[in-house]
Amino acid sequence: MSKARLALTGGGPLVVLTGAGMSAESGVPTFRDARTGLWERYDPTALATPEAWERDRDTVWAWYRWREHLVGAARPNAGHLAIARAAAGRPVVVVTQNVDDLHERAGSEQVHHLHGSLFDHRCDACGTPIEVEEPAAEPVSRLAPPECPRCPGRARPGVVWFGESLPVQPWESAVDAISAASAVLVVGTSGLVYPAASLPALAADCGTPVIEVNPGPSGLGSEVTLHLRATAAQALPALLAP
Ligand code: APR
Repeated sequence: MSKARLALTGGGPLVVLTGAGMSAESGVPTFRDARTGLWERYDPTALATPEAWERDRDTVWAWYRWREHLVGAARPNAGHLAIARAAAGRPVVVVTQNVDDLHERAGSEQVHHLHGSLFDHRCDACGTPIEVEEPAAEPVSRLAPPECPRCPGRARPGVVWFGESLPVQPWESAVDAISAASAVLVVGTSGLVYPAASLPALAADCGTPVIEVNPGPSGLGSEVTLHLRATAAQALPALLAP
């Protein structure tokens, strides 16, 4: 911990790159850890594809609505709050693969969502933004997505599925922030999904220290300067304390 704190001192710009493990202690399930409840028969990563949407929109829509409900009921954890507080003392940019809004609700102001947001919905044919009702508290296994008001398309989640391109603006902002960072903190990602997983290596190539917080193993390797085997809510308050 003391070495990691040392690597993070100096007050220069900090980038925090987060994945699903960041929100695990808020009660939001990760993608590649144990599956729970209604969806235990499904592989979450298999639901997050354009092919799954083509094959069975009602199952995919029901799954995303359930996740919206889960996230809406969740609260930022001590890790999210520590990252937001750190911005009082230095520039902090959050680059997240998460489609939840827990960084924003914790108070972080600069947040780039590489994989979109659960709370934006758009037509799957013409791209028109579509407002949808609050998700039901009770999960269902199938639900028809609302129709588009402008064309025969249907509302789809505003997230990036496997095989889809990342939104340009958040990606460019992430690369700029990593290039300008004095330290990069990587929290709760398996480091398996590209191009997000290439960002720690970009930092290492710039000679920037990369600190990883993850209680388990990840796909990241020599690009990481220091690994802390701890959870986000356990490690971040002490690591980022002024
Ligand atoms: N604190 C920190 N890390 C944790 C915690 C915790 N409390 N609990 C679990 N982890 C770690 C796990 O050890 C694992 O390495 O979080 C990681 C979660 O990995 P994934 O489920 O693969 O999540 P992520 O890396 O964000 O997935 C990337 O894949 O399915 C897509 O688009 C989706 O953005 C997602 C992307």
